[in-house]
Amino acid sequence: MYDIVILGGGPGGYVAAERAAALGLKTALIEKDAIGGTCLNRGCIPTKSLLHGAKTYRHALDSQAIGVSCTGVSYDLAAAMAWKAQTVQRLVQNVEFLMKKRGVELIRGSGRLVSSTTIGIDESGAAFEGRNVVIASGSEPARPPIPGAAGNPLVVTSDEILGIEKLPSSLVVIGGGVIGVELAAYFSALGVKVSILEMLPEILPFMDADLAAVYKRTLKGVAITTGAAVTGIDGGAVRYRKGEEAEESSVSGDLVLLATGRRPSLSGLGLEAVGVEFSPKGVKVDDSCRSGVPGVWAIGDATGRSLLAHSASAMGRAVAETIAGRAASVPWKALPWVVYGDPEAAGVGMTEAEAKAAGFDAATSSLPARANGRFLAERGIAAHGVCKLVADRASGRVLGAHIVAPYAGEMIWGMQYAIAGDATVADLERSVFPHPTVSELFHDALSALEL
Ligand code: NAI
Repeated sequence: MYDIVILGGGPGGYVAAERAAALGLKTALIEKDAIGGTCLNRGCIPTKSLLHGAKTYRHALDSQAIGVSCTGVSYDLAAAMAWKAQTVQRLVQNVEFLMKKRGVELIRGSGRLVSSTTIGIDESGAAFEGRNVVIASGSEPARPPIPGAAGNPLVVTSDEILGIEKLPSSLVVIGGGVIGVELAAYFSALGVKVSILEMLPEILPFMDADLAAVYKRTLKGVAITTGAAVTGIDGGAVRYRKGEEAEESSVSGDLVLLATGRRPSLSGLGLEAVGVEFSPKGVKVDDSCRSGVPGVWAIGDATGRSLLAHSASAMGRAVAETIAGRAASVPWKALPWVVYGDPEAAGVGMTEAEAKAAGFDAATSSLPARANGRFLAERGIAAHGVCKLVADRASGRVLGAHIVAPYAGEMIWGMQYAIAGDATVADLERSVFPHPTVSELFHDALSALEL
C-alpha cells in the first residue's frame, strides 16, 4: 500500500512525487511515455531550445547598430533539432535521477483507475493501491473539426511541428494564442513567411488589449488577421471569413499549424467507473485539487484550471504537502504566465479589465520600455515594450503586473511573490531594484501609480 499513487509524470506528477517522497510518503509514479510530459518532451523545453537558436540567428543578422557585423550567418535546422533533442534528453534523465534519489517508485505503463484507491496497468495487469490517487494525465492538442484538416499531411499540431526536417517557406497558423504566437515568432525569425488567423478580435486574449497591441508590434513581419473564422482547408490553403463579410478569403502556406488550444487527456483513465466528475474541460476539483471522490485528486492540465507547467507543479506540490499533513495551498490569484518570443511578455494577477469587472477601484500605470536605461542600451529607441501595473486604490495592494520586455519571464516571479502575499504599492516601492536593469520598469511603474 502506497501513501500516494500518481498517474502521469509531467511537471504536475513528478513534482508531486518528488515532494511527497521528500516528506516521507511512500510514493509511486506511473508514466506510459517519457518522464517529463508535454513540458519536457513536446512543449516548454523543446520550443525554448529552438527559439533560443532563432533569436541568436536574428541577433547575429541584426546587430550592426551595436557594432557587430557577421557574415556567412546561417541557420542549420538539423543542428537546432539535435540541440533540442540533447536538451530534452538531459532533462528527462535529470528527472529520472531525481525520482530514484528520492525513492519514488517509477512504474512504466498506461494506468487506469480500477477503484478509487487502485490504479491498474493496462500492459502488465499489475495493480498499485494507494491511500491517495492523483490524476496528472496532462493534455493534448485540440483538433477542431475544420473541414479538410483531418488526414491532411500539410496540417500539423505543435507535436509534429517540433520534429520537422525542413523549414517551410511559408506557414499559416490557425489560432493566435500562446502556442500560435511563440511558433510564429520562431519561424518568422528564420525568414519563414508567417500568417496568423485568430477567431477573436485580438491575439493573446488573456492580456489587456493595450499590452497585446504592443506585443503584436514585436512580431515583425507576421501577417495577423483577427476576427477570422476558419471555414476550411484545402492542401495548404486555409479559407476564412472575416466578421460579417459574405466573401471568403484565403491564405496559403507550405504548412498549416493548428494551434487552437489543448484539451485534458482523460479518456481511458477509468474516471467514469470510479465516479470522478469530469467534462471535456477537465476533472472537477476544488481549490485544494480534491475531486468529489475521497482520496482522488487531480492536478495540472487534467483539471483544465490553468494549462501551464508551473501551475501544474504548484498544484502537485500543494497536494503532496496536504497529504503529508502540512498546510498548503495553490496561489490561484497569482499564477504567472510568460509568452516567449523576442522580447518576452509576462504577467501575473489581474488585468485592468479583470480588476474593473471584479469591482475594484483600479488605478493603473503604463510605461513604455524605452524609458528604461538597460532596455535602451540593448534594444534602442525603435524597439517595443511596455510595463503595466494595476492596483487597488482602497487597500493600496498590487492586483496585477504585466510586462513586454527582454527578460520578462525571468522577472515576473518577484511580482508573483508580491501579489500572492498581498503586498502594497508602498511595500514594493521601498524595495531596491538594481540599476541598470529592465526590472526597474516595475519600480518606475509603481511610482507612476496614482492611488
Ligand atoms: P490558447 O487557448 O492559448 O489559444 C488558442 C487560440 O486559438 C485562441 O485565441 C482561440 O480564439 C483561437 N482559435 C480557436 N479556434 C480557432 C479557429 N477555428 N480559427 C481561428 N482561431 C481559433 O491555446 P494554444 O495556444 O493552443 O495553447 C494551449 C495551451 O498551452 C494554453 O493553455 C497555453 O497556456 C499553454 N501553453 C503555454 C505556453 C507558455 O506558458 N509559454 C506555451 C505554449 C502553450
